Amino acid sequence: MAEYRIGLGVTGGIAAYKAIEVMRHLQKAGCEVSVAMTRHATEFVRPLTFRALTDRHVIVDDYDPANPDPIAHINFSQEIDLLLIVPATANIIAKFANGIADDFLSSTYLASTAPVLIAPAMNVTMWEHAATQRNLERLKADGVRFVDPVAGELACKTVGTGKLEDVENIVRQALTVLSEPPAVAGGLRVSQRSAGGTIIGRSGNGAVLSDGEVKPPATAGGSDLAGEHILITVGGTREAIDPVRFISNHSSGKMGFAVAAAARDRGAKVTVVAASTSVEPPDGIELIRAISAQEMFDAVMEKVADATVFIGAAAVADYAPANVADMKIKKEGKDGFLLELKKTPDILSEVSKRRSGRQLVIGFAAETNDVIEYAKSKMAKKNLDMVIANDITAQGAGFNTDTNIATILTPQGETALGLMSKRALADKILDEIINLRRSNPANAARSGNS
Ligand code: CTP
Repeated sequence: MAEYRIGLGVTGGIAAYKAIEVMRHLQKAGCEVSVAMTRHATEFVRPLTFRALTDRHVIVDDYDPANPDPIAHINFSQEIDLLLIVPATANIIAKFANGIADDFLSSTYLASTAPVLIAPAMNVTMWEHAATQRNLERLKADGVRFVDPVAGELACKTVGTGKLEDVENIVRQALTVLSEPPAVAGGLRVSQRSAGGTIIGRSGNGAVLSDGEVKPPATAGGSDLAGEHILITVGGTREAIDPVRFISNHSSGKMGFAVAAAARDRGAKVTVVAASTSVEPPDGIELIRAISAQEMFDAVMEKVADATVFIGAAAVADYAPANVADMKIKKEGKDGFLLELKKTPDILSEVSKRRSGRQLVIGFAAETNDVIEYAKSKMAKKNLDMVIANDITAQGAGFNTDTNIATILTPQGETALGLMSKRALADKILDEIINLRRSNPANAARSGNS
C-alpha cells in the first residue's frame, strides 16, 4: 500500500503539462496520486494522460455521468494526505481564498482537511496584482503553503516572476509537508489546516517517534548550526583494478549532498570529501574530490582535526584490489580470473578513534536485513554518537532515489521516520545533532576553533 495519498489538482495554465512530471516523481517516491482537473486545464492536457498514468478516473466534473462516485468531492477530499495544486492559476487561488466552490476542485478544497500546497504559475502582472497578492496572504493565514513561482521568461514572452518552480523542488516540498508531524489529540489523529500556517494532520506513521512523542519540524534556514564545522564523506568510492576497470557501488551522493546543503543553510561551515557522485554538489561548501577509499581516508585525515562534526555518508568500498595493474588486463588465454582484494582503511572508525573532546562522529548503516541490529552493533563497534539506518530494499529508500526511510539511533534511543525527501531527512539528522549538543554538556561548549 502507498505510504502517502496525494490529491493533485491541475488548473488551466500553460504549465499544466508539468503536473505530469510532478505526478511521476511522486509515484516514484511511493505516493498514490489521484488527479482532479479544472475544465480549463483540460484545454492544455487531456484527462486521459493522467488516467493512463494513474490508472484512476480523473475528475473534472462532479456531475459527469462517467464519474463513478456520486459525491466525489467529499470522498476524494477525505481520502488524501495532501492536496497539491500544480499549476495554480490566479483564478483558483481567488476561489480558494474566498471559499467559492463552483467546480470539483474548489469544492474539494473546502471539503478537505488535508494540508494544502499550491504551486502557482501565471503572467507576472497577474501574479503581482494586488488582488492576487491579497488572496495569497489570506490563504497563508488559513495555513495553506506555497511553492512560490520563480523569475524567468514566461509563456507570454514577458520576463518576470510567475514561472512554475522546478518540478524537483515542488516534489521535495510536497514530501517535506507529508513528512511533518501529525497532531494527535486524545489518541485520534487531528487532520486540518491550522491558522498559524503549521500543517497538522496526515495519516500514516510519518514523523511520530517510536515512543509516541511528536518532534517539531526541522528548522528551515536560520543559523542554529553557526559555529559548527561539518565534515561529510559523500558518494561511492571507486577501487581501480586496472587503468580501465574499477569496483564500485550504486551510491549517487544525493543523501550526503542533501546533508551538506541543509547544514550550509543552517549556518554551518561545510567540507565535503566526495568520491564518485551522479548529482551536482551544492554551492557554498568546500568540496574535495577523493575517488578511492585510500584517497578519501587521506583527505579526511587531513581535514578532520578542524571539524566539530564528522558524518560518514559515503559508501566506502570495504575491499580494494590488492594489486592495481599498470596496463589494461587482457582476456586472451584466460577462462577465469581471480582478483585478490585487501581491506580498505575504515575512515569512520579511525575518525572516531582520533576524535577530540566535543567532536561528534556519525555514521550511516545501509542494510538489507536486520537493519536496527546491525546499526546498533555499528554504533557500539565504531563508538559513534549517531547512526542513520535504512533498509535499502524498501520502496522509496536506497541509492538513487530522492527520498529515504530511516531510523536515527543515538545513545538516547531510536527515532523511526517515515518516507521523506533526503533533504527533510538531512534536517532531521541536523536536529539530532542539536539535541546531542543540548543533552550532553560535554558536547555543548563551543570550541570556537572553526
Ligand atoms: N565507512 C567508512 N570507511 C569504510 C567503510 C565504511 O568510513 N572503509 C563508513 C560509511 O561511510 C558509513 C559506515 O561506515 O558511515 C558504514 O559502516 P560499515 O560497517 O563499513 O558498513 P558496511 O560496509 O555496509 O557494513 P558491513 O560490512 O557490516 O555490511
